[in-house]
Amino acid sequence: MKALVLSGGAGTRLRPITHTSAKQLVPVANKAVLFYGLESIAEAGITDVGMIVGDTAEEIEEAVGDGARFGLKVTYIPQERPLGLAHAVLIARDYLGDDDFVMYLGDNFIVGGITGLVEEFRGNRPDAQILLTRVADPRAFGVAELDPSGQVIGLEEKPDQPKSDLALVGVYMFTPLIHEAVRAIEPSWRGELEITHAIQHLIDTRADVRSTVIKGYWKDTGNVGDMLEVNRTVLEAMERRIDGEVDDASETIGRVVLEEGARIVNSRVVGPVVIGSGTVVSNSYIGPFTSVAENCRITDSELEFSIVLRDSSIQGVGRIEASLIGRHVEVTPAPSVPSAHRLVLGDHSKVQITS
Ligand code: G1P
Repeated sequence: MKALVLSGGAGTRLRPITHTSAKQLVPVANKAVLFYGLESIAEAGITDVGMIVGDTAEEIEEAVGDGARFGLKVTYIPQERPLGLAHAVLIARDYLGDDDFVMYLGDNFIVGGITGLVEEFRGNRPDAQILLTRVADPRAFGVAELDPSGQVIGLEEKPDQPKSDLALVGVYMFTPLIHEAVRAIEPSWRGELEITHAIQHLIDTRADVRSTVIKGYWKDTGNVGDMLEVNRTVLEAMERRIDGEVDDASETIGRVVLEEGARIVNSRVVGPVVIGSGTVVSNSYIGPFTSVAENCRITDSELEFSIVLRDSSIQGVGRIEASLIGRHVEVTPAPSVPSAHRLVLGDHSKVQITS
């Protein structure tokens, strides 16, 4: 069995964070979303990965390399334009050969991995197996309609009036029968060859399409609240590890991960928190469910339930909560104070905060 990992696409939903970075590389607990996917694939016992890349190919290749550090053998397959998920299957035909494969969308996050699901598929070997999850707004997803026995009877891509709240998760398992289906369909209204339509074609031609409903799912819908929640979930599962420096005037409480080369000076850090290498926290408080990436400066400030990407600095601004802060961002004081701030700042932003 092989894996086909999709890492192209523009990432418009997570702007401004994705103006300057591939959406698959947006970090959760200081690790790219894509890396969790690759680890899950390796864990499921798959080693051959075809990686579909688009405009951000260079950035993805730099991050993933040949895949050896994940225990994978990665082959890059360029997609000239984002012409759809079924188009990705079409151009990967030679790479995939006659193997079964799991198709994994690189911007999807599945808590708990996919090992059980892959084993189930290998055991039963239906023509296709899809994953579903209940979401608040199904209009942003492919949506499945099930009959009372749980059989999938219809799939629609981003419907205005969804027939259920069961969204298609971006992990699909296929036998080579899917290659016929992707050749049989026409582009959708958005000009893409939809995998949703290819699976509908399988259903219409009486292939065996099974579904599993899962919990613990996140994708880049552009909803910052969701992103903070997935960050919280991952941090909850971490073990305490202090590889950086903590001075005598500081305290680190509970599940704090301090990477080598990070420094805590005269500060209080209450986990679960992860702090990347090269980051210096001084005269500050870092509260639960916070990820601070590499080479940041947090000075004379309080930060809780937030994500800060690399190379950013926050200085003397009082308390920040529930915020997502991009790369190379500077947050500095300006006259007058609200005592809590809620921010969504893109890469290279500069903001002046009243204090
Ligand atoms: C794609 C699929 C959609 C699925 C979603 C999951 O949407 O077309 O059916 O629910 O991935 O991530 P897209 O990300 O292309 O909008």
